[in-house]
Amino acid sequence: MSSSSSSAERLSQIAGHLNFPQGLLAGQVAIITGSGQGIGAEVARLFANEGAKVVVSDIDAKKAEDVAQSIKSNGGSAVAVSGDMLDSKYIDELVKKAAEFGEGKINIIVNNAGFTWDGVIHKTTDKQWDTIIALHNTAPFKLIRAAAPYFRVKDGAPRSIINISSTSGLHGNAGQANYALAKAGVTGLTKTIAKEWGPQFGVRANTIAFGHILTRLTAAKEDGAFVTTPDGQKVALGIPKAQGDTKAKAGFEDIPLRRPGSATEAARAILAVASPLFSYVSGQTISVTGGRNI
Ligand SMILES: NC(=O)c1ccc[n+]([C@@H]2O[C@H](COP(=O)([O-])OP(=O)(O)OC[C@H]3O[C@@H](n4cnc5c(N)ncnc54)[C@H](O)[C@@H]3O)[C@@H](O)[C@H]2O)c1
Repeated sequence: MSSSSSSAERLSQIAGHLNFPQGLLAGQVAIITGSGQGIGAEVARLFANEGAKVVVSDIDAKKAEDVAQSIKSNGGSAVAVSGDMLDSKYIDELVKKAAEFGEGKINIIVNNAGFTWDGVIHKTTDKQWDTIIALHNTAPFKLIRAAAPYFRVKDGAPRSIINISSTSGLHGNAGQANYALAKAGVTGLTKTIAKEWGPQFGVRANTIAFGHILTRLTAAKEDGAFVTTPDGQKVALGIPKAQGDTKAKAGFEDIPLRRPGSATEAARAILAVASPLFSYVSGQTISVTGGRNI
């Protein structure tokens, strides 16, 4: 939180210099899915620091409420709307509540909610496959479709959609066929939005593909983090400690910057793309990887 606050202060200074005295996202209403923790929570905080009204969406109601409260106690504007992105009714409710909170406006959607459920191809079950595609592709599509009336608007206000992908989607990754397909799919969805809603409505859509970012998804599996599927199955998160230790011991030699990124660094990239500094960037897939895979 402290590194996030100090980086937010520096960003606010930059915004002031660039003539956005109320912040880079002043008055914009943003839905951030999966913002109860990790990258999404940092996005919520950075957006709020830049004047956005933030809708904190997460399946974990307590964490979503905590993020919204911490934003409000820092003088920002936020509301928690918790629920499962795999539930179509929740998606409709999320859009309805966001529009109420935004007094009829929604400017930004960050499709960030997600998790990994790894398996080599010959052992991946239908349920593993279907859940990951549903969460990373179908849910973002349904959210964007439900929010269409708030994006297909000709009032000249900034509107932007950011879909979160991964190096696994761009390059493939052994043990992640489901996640790689889903994260590749996001890029086609993004480009289609850019082409459908750019010409008349000025909506920008971009994909951000992360490499190794330090969250519970990349922490040691032995730490015990898990998510629960709608039918009650626990899915362990993280990567086996031995695998993580090997990468660290090798000095992250596959990453030119030789280190993983923090959730705050990941969130800053999302803020950059959402901000007016990127007003002429649309349809792109931006890798935020410390240079991995170049
Ligand atoms: N951490 C990385 O290295 C990395 C790399 C590439 C891409 N990503 C992507 O970044 C995004 C954020 O991941 P993170 O690393 O911050 O993970 P995280 O686990 O810290 O945060 C993800 C959030 O999504 C929420 N979520 C999961 N399933 C949900 C559902 N069905 N409905 C609503 N919310 C749900 C979780 O409760 C959690 O708060 C994900 O899409 C992930 O695939 C992460």
